[in-house]
Amino acid sequence: MATGASNSELAVILIDARKGVLIQTRRHATIVSLLGIRHVVLAVNKIDLMGFSKEVFDAIVAEFTKFAAPLGFQTLVPIPISARFGDNVISLSANTPWYTGPSLLAQLETVDVETALAEKPFRMPVQWVNRPNLDFRGFSGTIVGGRVKPGDTIAVAGSGRTSKVKRIVTQDGDLAEAVAGDAVTLTLADEVDISRGDVLCAANARPEVSDQLAAHLLWMAEEELLPGRQYILKLATSTVPAQVTALKHKLDVNNLDQLAAKTLHLNEIGTVNLSLAQPLAFDAYRDNRDMGGFILIDRFTNATVGAGMIDFGLRRATNVHWQVLDVNKQARASLKHQKPAVLWFTGLSGSGKSTIANLVESALHARGRHTYILDGDNVRHGLNRDLGFTDADRVENIRRVGEAAKLFVDAGLIVLVSFISPFRSERRMARELVGEGEFIEVFVDTPLEVCIQRDPKGLYGKAKAGEIKHFTGIDSPYEPPEKAEIVLKTVDSDPAHEAERILDYLKSGGYVA
Ligand code: ADX
Repeated sequence: MATGASNSELAVILIDARKGVLIQTRRHATIVSLLGIRHVVLAVNKIDLMGFSKEVFDAIVAEFTKFAAPLGFQTLVPIPISARFGDNVISLSANTPWYTGPSLLAQLETVDVETALAEKPFRMPVQWVNRPNLDFRGFSGTIVGGRVKPGDTIAVAGSGRTSKVKRIVTQDGDLAEAVAGDAVTLTLADEVDISRGDVLCAANARPEVSDQLAAHLLWMAEEELLPGRQYILKLATSTVPAQVTALKHKLDVNNLDQLAAKTLHLNEIGTVNLSLAQPLAFDAYRDNRDMGGFILIDRFTNATVGAGMIDFGLRRATNVHWQVLDVNKQARASLKHQKPAVLWFTGLSGSGKSTIANLVESALHARGRHTYILDGDNVRHGLNRDLGFTDADRVENIRRVGEAAKLFVDAGLIVLVSFISPFRSERRMARELVGEGEFIEVFVDTPLEVCIQRDPKGLYGKAKAGEIKHFTGIDSPYEPPEKAEIVLKTVDSDPAHEAERILDYLKSGGYVA
């Protein structure tokens, strides 16, 4: 079976009459409902192979109708068809005299697909700023809601600045009015700071602006969702880093029950909270699909891993304000006569991270520098004692450590972070939490065979014997850095020498005198 949405308002759900209502049928119907589509045609195909049986058709329709009752479809029109022979596709078939409803084509034509999008509040996500010369500055994009006329007062959703529309420019000349669906360039009466990703909106009916959202998320990747990992969220013309901060539950597509879940697998649907790196203008998906539908993209593969529908904003951004403090990072650091930074050691267990980090800290301390060490084995006894070694727990482990390191940098310290930190994605996130030049990635590049041979804590032995699961290098991956600031080879060198190299780096970079 397959689902085909013939347009944005109507979906055709295709059922194979031989197979009846399958789990995919339920999944597709659930997705159709979540997408806000309210008109459904249930095409029961291959009815010819079932002898054009009314009983078979009625049984399938009864089962589907019962299942779909909570999905809120406004119309649900079941049609027995044979796509192969054309029965009931264009006109009614003599093979199904018992069927008196419309043919598939007739139904597709009669359903009122007028979206009334033009009657909604004005929305235009800015695709690009059109500035061919100094005299012309226009904002180009496709109107995704409402209508606009010269003289209308519009606002920039994010900044709240307002202005009046001067002209509506198109290739075919100026327009007196533009409506949803039109691609136009607007010029404004005032100089307003607007760039790609901003949303122009009706000044008296603005979208929400928040960095915290509640949404339905359909997971589309083989690799499971990792709550806490940063993905790129793309909505209308903006892209922002985003992470799932809570997976409230997933939907059982068989009966629409809400199930507790720690992750989402391929094709699963969950309700989630998302936290964005910057506030975004949006509408609820049910009010405006273009302003409320988004995709999630993996930062490294650029693959689309999820599709989401915003339910509502969690108004944290508007209520929690960043406290501006008088004593800042700069002040704290200069009192200590140093440039704060994170030395982020990454490498396999037993590679020598902690040993080298220790030596570096001792040397810095001896020179009167202010330091702090965050070490995996220690932090996992306190701050992160609730976390294990699944992928999801490691993501959360590193997220917390990254945030803690950021606070210590803000305190003006040189922070030494020593965790396996096996995933590129979270190391990148930790890097982006601090300023330019404040993150120094140190790859302790000791081959796995050497670590296994050293096995200082006897853990590789246990992992190989199957006594420890998800052990990095054995049955859990390690993604080596591609561009670490410092790469240390520990095989033919001693730790003191490697520590010296790091100290040299700090001196030549002006971190310490
Ligand atoms: S990380 O992958 O989440 O960054 P972290 O550095 O905090 O790992 O912890 C690694 C330390 O935990 C190892 O040095 C080892 O002593 C211990 N450990 C216990 N179980 C595991 C495991 N399954 N995989 C890796 N390390 C483990």
